[in-house]
Amino acid sequence: MRTDFLIIGSGIAGLSLALRLSKFGKVIVITKKRKAESNTNYAQGGIASVLGTDDNFDLHIKDTMDCGGGLCSLEAVKKIVADGPNIIYDLLEQGVRFTKDSKGKLKLGKEGGHSRSRIVHAKDLTGKEIERALLYGISKNKNIKIHEYFFSIDLLTNKNIQNKIRKKDKSCYGIYALNVKSNKVEKIISRKTIIATGGLGQVYLHTTNPAIATGDGFAMGYRAGCELSNMEFVQFHPTSLYESEVDIDSQVFLISEAVRGAGAVLRLKSGKEFMHKYDKRKSLAPRDIVARAIDSELKKSGDPFVYLDCSPIGKKVKNEFPHIYKKCFERGIDITKDMIPVVPAAHYACGGIKTDLEGKTNIKNLFACGEVAMTGVHGANRLASNSLLEAVVFADSIYNSIAKELKTSKVRKSFNTNLKLIEDSILNWTDDGTENAEEKIYFSHDKREIKEIMSDYVGIVRSISRLERAMRRSKMLREEIKEFYDRTKVSVELLELRNLVTVSYIIIKSAMKRKESRGLHYMLDFPERDDKTYLNEINFKKK
Ligand code: FAD
Ligand code: SIN
Repeated sequence: MRTDFLIIGSGIAGLSLALRLSKFGKVIVITKKRKAESNTNYAQGGIASVLGTDDNFDLHIKDTMDCGGGLCSLEAVKKIVADGPNIIYDLLEQGVRFTKDSKGKLKLGKEGGHSRSRIVHAKDLTGKEIERALLYGISKNKNIKIHEYFFSIDLLTNKNIQNKIRKKDKSCYGIYALNVKSNKVEKIISRKTIIATGGLGQVYLHTTNPAIATGDGFAMGYRAGCELSNMEFVQFHPTSLYESEVDIDSQVFLISEAVRGAGAVLRLKSGKEFMHKYDKRKSLAPRDIVARAIDSELKKSGDPFVYLDCSPIGKKVKNEFPHIYKKCFERGIDITKDMIPVVPAAHYACGGIKTDLEGKTNIKNLFACGEVAMTGVHGANRLASNSLLEAVVFADSIYNSIAKELKTSKVRKSFNTNLKLIEDSILNWTDDGTENAEEKIYFSHDKREIKEIMSDYVGIVRSISRLERAMRRSKMLREEIKEFYDRTKVSVELLELRNLVTVSYIIIKSAMKRKESRGLHYMLDFPERDDKTYLNEINFKKK
């Protein structure tokens, strides 16, 4: 396949960008499962934007910066905040049905760390509604083609080009992708490639992220030579529904922070409130504080969960959060009467492939957008509901950057180079010397081991000895998986395993470099924040 723009991923970032770039040429979107399957599809709370009469940009900027523990880029934060209202109007124009009040005004919810109500939402199924509207728009657009069940394996860069035309500056020419249905590896050649592959929650045992979130984009970027930053900052959402047993690839059900925004409070199993001991904002403090407080209380009491008490919301809880009501009811919990057992779960990657304000990576013609990107917005801890916002704002930036580039005739000329020539010079995928995996037990065993290491030693509370232990085990797994990969024909399970072990290694290594506590990275050995040494990003790049 050859195309002007290749977008890897069909979440909010990929789809928003596809709709924009289709004005300039042919867009291919590939996605590893069904097109709606993404983190976006499960987003509940909504999108933060300054729309209330009591709100202003400075307040949203301050809340975001406060939450980010000194590591947010002010420029990036100003950008998402200032673009926020237009992004919401644009989504409305694209047909997203956000919840409105009886006067037709957008209803604004509240979430942790926000000093004002500013969360635009579609009841408690905001992400699903956004995916529906964007996919509908794409279905009417002749310039965009979505290929489901295409798994991006690796980026095509100079090392994949035959020597004679290898250029000096590192560029991206597309990807090798596994066509899952035909089981063949194909080259997809593109003028511009955008990684929009979402998060990495599946590197942990308990995660709100669906099975697709195996960190493929981070690992792919790393292997190609992208710079990654802030990977130690993995956000744990304080309130996922407690399940006594969780399957290895499954996701735990989220109880949106908007429920606490509407008045619900956290209580110990004994019924006592506890958040006042940790923060004056109590149950509505930023996520790092609430998740750590729950973790600490659970360790003290030995209980398996704490409770979320929805009674302060009253009967309207059923109407405001119908999906959460339904899901809990199916498990025998009536949230109009019963308290919900909750625990923290891995939720969001604050770090990622480093980009500038135009979404560009350090590799030419390669962009990153959405959760996989590190734009500087989130710093050491993301403010609730800033992620969907960041994804669309930066999709818009990439579009504007490419629009600007195409205005210059030199670029327009090189944009029209023959893609077939590039395709012919890219080395073909070869699986000579590899065999089909004889025993699938390796996949599930290694995956469980990675997840256990990450959950036990690289979770909410870390220490030098835990991280060192994690690194020793991860190193061995990396070596074994590499050796297994080199002699085995690719499959989705094998590719995901390779990516999971790569991403876990990057998180552990980054965490070891930050010898302080900041935002989501809490170290028992260094409980204080150290601005003298660590007021910067931990950058990570393959040597
Ligand atoms: P995604 O939506 O995850 O899309 C990634 C896409 O890439 C998917 O289509 C996937 O299949 C594809 N992909 C991945 N790897 C490959 C590969 N190797 N080859 C091909 N395709 C691939 N944020 C908010 O701001 N507000 C909220 O209310 C909110 N609620 C959330 C609730 C839940 C339960 C979760 C899990 C997250 C929530 N978040 C929320 C975070 C937010 O949803 C995500 O950060 C955001 O949706 C990410 O969008 P994205 O487009 O970057 O990635
Ligand atoms: C939630 O609804 O609690 C999730 C919001 C987010 O992750 O930003």
